[in-house]
Amino acid sequence: MKSTGREGVDDLIEYLDEGRNHFFTAPASVNHHLNNDGGLLQHSLNVCHAALKLRELTLTMRPDLESQLTRDSVIIASLLHDICKADIYRPTRRKRKDATGLWVEVDSYDVDYSNFPMGHGEKSAIMALWAGLDITQEELLAIRWHMTAWDLPMQSVEAGKSLNTARDLHPLCSLVQLADGIAANLVEFGTDGKENF
Ligand SMILES: [Fe+2]
Ligand SMILES: [Fe+2]
Repeated sequence: MKSTGREGVDDLIEYLDEGRNHFFTAPASVNHHLNNDGGLLQHSLNVCHAALKLRELTLTMRPDLESQLTRDSVIIASLLHDICKADIYRPTRRKRKDATGLWVEVDSYDVDYSNFPMGHGEKSAIMALWAGLDITQEELLAIRWHMTAWDLPMQSVEAGKSLNTARDLHPLCSLVQLADGIAANLVEFGTDGKENF
């Protein structure tokens, strides 16, 4: 993130670890991928690495997209797409059956959306702005719509059209969506057995 030299990066890094935000130690999920301390950071790095590789591949086939898929935008949108999760997990203990079928207490997390119940991608985008990062419209849209249709409010024609328009206008949207899927479903597969963006 610092390699982008973007104004506000240092403020953003501080913001992600203050108040109720615990981006650097939060899990990526409770029951699915990377459900351990630091899982959210690891997932974000996995998405960023996948997105940078996808960028290289895409530009070998479509060199004309270089100005729309800058390295800095790919890094910013992919690393920040899930920062909405920085404030929702609380450590707890939970009973679970072990491999022999015996109930044991294990470390787990409760999920609490009360801090800022704004949603998912839209919450990440707003948090990046709140943190004071100098962020572009296409980076905000790639973060907002990284879940594609999985995050559409039911029967919202306007949301569907916004998603499609954002994707048509900005290749960065599709790139981050794809990288998130590769990280969660392929790279992180086996860390839990199920997918969860
Ligand atoms: Fe997400
Ligand atoms: Fe994600």
